[in-house]
Amino acid sequence: MSDFASIDVAGKRVLVREDLNVPLDGGTVTDLTRIDAAVPTIRSLSERGAKVIVMSHLGRPNGAVVESLRMAPVAKALSAQLGFDVKTAPDCVGPQAQAAVDALRDGDVLLLENLRFHKEEEAGDDAFARSLASLGDIYVNDAFGTAHRAHASTSVIAKYLPAYMGPLMARELEMLDSILENPKRPFVAVLGGAKVSDKIEVIDRLMSICDCVVVGGGMANTLLAAEGRPIGKSLCDKDLGPALGVLDGIKHHKFKAKLHVPKDAIVAKQLAADVDTEDVKIADVKPDDMILDIGAGTAMDYRGVILDAKTVLWNGPMGVFENDLFAAGTEAVGQAIADSGAVSVVGGGDSAAAAHKLGFADKMTHISTGGGATLEYIEGKELPGVAALRSAKPA
Ligand code: 3PG
Repeated sequence: MSDFASIDVAGKRVLVREDLNVPLDGGTVTDLTRIDAAVPTIRSLSERGAKVIVMSHLGRPNGAVVESLRMAPVAKALSAQLGFDVKTAPDCVGPQAQAAVDALRDGDVLLLENLRFHKEEEAGDDAFARSLASLGDIYVNDAFGTAHRAHASTSVIAKYLPAYMGPLMARELEMLDSILENPKRPFVAVLGGAKVSDKIEVIDRLMSICDCVVVGGGMANTLLAAEGRPIGKSLCDKDLGPALGVLDGIKHHKFKAKLHVPKDAIVAKQLAADVDTEDVKIADVKPDDMILDIGAGTAMDYRGVILDAKTVLWNGPMGVFENDLFAAGTEAVGQAIADSGAVSVVGGGDSAAAAHKLGFADKMTHISTGGGATLEYIEGKELPGVAALRSAKPA
């Protein structure tokens, strides 16, 4: 695999896989993070005289044309961020895509139609990958957010063209590798999110390499329940097995990290915009209470742990931060990370959204564009999109 910056792309058709799977409200892109992250790669190719052909999926249309998942709003947002017009094609393969490619001049950028309108994309179909490959001379995979999928455009296509890793993908891997393999210590992981079972391998790995793991969100409820503490009617995994496994691992000194669970919580009788809330000790959580955020005492403790850190990995909010009544815990850990001066990496969906909503995004060292991909990488899995590049040989 050679360096992206050294490829001679002038006059060549460069097929770039990006992850432009962005949230839409009607026809408007509501979060530009992934588009902004892809722009430097696309701009660099355009400025170097390539005919830039961008491919992406959008949503999960399951192999059918879904009008609300056409790429047009993404092309509009990408044009605005690039400062020039991005061309579009009504399909990603076949004569219409070919005609759009043939009309490109050096420096132009074309965004192909949603790859997942064809079921062959997710199936990793070989003939479909070859059809995509026939549109370009060079393949660049920059779609870190989709690197955990072994799809035609993320993996199979690398067999058919000289293949290179894009700078966004490279930076994502570099940031994650630097903290997972050689973190400055103390290394603290801040973990939240709904379920322990969804992230059990992430918890195992982080408990093995971090110095401290602080936990909030539904995940904390499950760990508290596994410890036999009251959590009322809070969100909790039905199966306490994985949480009991973590506690057992701690008991038997399997892990390096110290685990911190909440000592108090913000509770309400229901999740609504205007409910009465109370900050209670975990021992005082009543059977009809819902834990919806970490309490102020826990937030102070977590702040102390985070302020000592030299490296922080943040995955998952501490509470239902979308509701202002339950955002204080997530805000407190975000503020602590910002104040700590630690190398900070935010990864995996909700935490990036929380960092943006609560205004901490520009205070973090790196906000990953990956959701599932980031989690799988933290687990230690090889990502098919990366593996395909490593085994591909450039011309
Ligand atoms: C994501 O948003 O995590 C990626 O774009 C992958 O999307 P998928 O989960 O639908 O494969």
